[in-house]
Amino acid sequence: MDIIKAPRGVRDILPDEAWKWAYVLETSRKVAGFFGYNEIHLPLFEHTELFSRGIGDSTDVVEKEMYTFLDRAGRSLTLRPELTASMVRCYLEHGMSKKVQPVKLWSAGPMFRYERPQKGRYRQFWQLDVEALGSEAPEVDLEIIAFAIYLFNALGLSNLEVVINSVGCPVCRPGYRDALKRYVGSNFDALCNTCQNRFERNPLRILDCKNERCREIMKDAPGIADYLCDECSEHFKRVKEGMTILGINYKEDKNLVRGLDYYTKTAFEVLSGELGAQNAVCGGGRYDNLAETIGGPHVPGVGFAAGIERIVLTMEGQGCDFGQQPGIDVFIVTADDLAKNKALKLLYDLRHEQISVDMDYTGKSIGSQLKTASNREAKLACILGGVEIEKGVVTVKDLRKGSQSEVANDSLIDYVKANLAG
Ligand code: HAM
Repeated sequence: MDIIKAPRGVRDILPDEAWKWAYVLETSRKVAGFFGYNEIHLPLFEHTELFSRGIGDSTDVVEKEMYTFLDRAGRSLTLRPELTASMVRCYLEHGMSKKVQPVKLWSAGPMFRYERPQKGRYRQFWQLDVEALGSEAPEVDLEIIAFAIYLFNALGLSNLEVVINSVGCPVCRPGYRDALKRYVGSNFDALCNTCQNRFERNPLRILDCKNERCREIMKDAPGIADYLCDECSEHFKRVKEGMTILGINYKEDKNLVRGLDYYTKTAFEVLSGELGAQNAVCGGGRYDNLAETIGGPHVPGVGFAAGIERIVLTMEGQGCDFGQQPGIDVFIVTADDLAKNKALKLLYDLRHEQISVDMDYTGKSIGSQLKTASNREAKLACILGGVEIEKGVVTVKDLRKGSQSEVANDSLIDYVKANLAG
């Protein structure tokens, strides 16, 4: 029988990598604190309708990428492909409009999309998701973009490109859509099959097709900037002014539309050259009509999500610092069974003093226990043999310096603490 492996596109995050994730998530938690965002935990699955209505039926995510299943009672449920729709559902369900607005929330966890796996693109991946709900103010868009930039700076990332656009609103987008269709219509036959299908259903998506020919055609497509209504245009201007005030460099990209239908006004992405084809470290924007699409009242919102795998990949590529890799402080080495009992007591005494300590349970020789101690990068080895027990001492070897000394049992904990601190 073959050994069962993890499904395609799904990764185990092994300890060698998991500590880097912990650093990224810890840093995110700190930045969220500075920006006044509260952590929230949301379900991994929701009613399918939340996503099909919220994200949009004609998006790739809903059409091709959702993990949808019937539960035992025949209800259609979907593993969350993203968090924004769930955040808005949660805001509505818990009457958060009564709180001080905007309600500022963040969450991190796994998302699920049936995509073709490649570097930086997986079927289960983690997002850090940050949302501000209940405010129309362009300063909140600015805060969301600034949050992302602050976080990436705190993580030591460099050479990132911020691209922004305004995708308009239901007032001005239809006019732009028509202009775009007129332009695209005259090049229809040259478009890829996917874009030919998009032409009627979702022509704006043609703007961000990755196909070389489509890109070439769309380079000269009309930009939405010329079609924005006064409100959208003012809003966009204010966001850009704010970016200038904060010294955030950005590039305006008239073809940035993003793959989810709920966006209105601001859309942005942060790109990294380190990632190859999947170059977006984060993406986000405003979604003022999402709450209405899922059956609620008008609740404006803006947010972003960043892929944790992509952040870690970029940090590794750029040689960023992940802080200290967790290791043990002390390894206890024993010579025989009598020493083992003493060692067990010492093991837990040290742990109770909040010192990270381990020992061997497999009956290895002293030599190989010492080898384990240095492989585990322990700072100190506490050696217990017959001689030590007879004399009421422990031999403490400093594995960083190679020196060793005999320490009386009753002063051992203080000695270890002092040495670890020094
Ligand atoms: P998104 O652009 O679909 O936006 O995803 C955001 C980020 O998640 C991407 O920039 C990327 O870093 C990461 N990501 C997406 N798909 C994958 C994948 N298959 N494998 C690895 N990483 C991936 C959203 O999800 C929106 N909900 C963002 C948002 C929040 N807009 C407003 N608020």
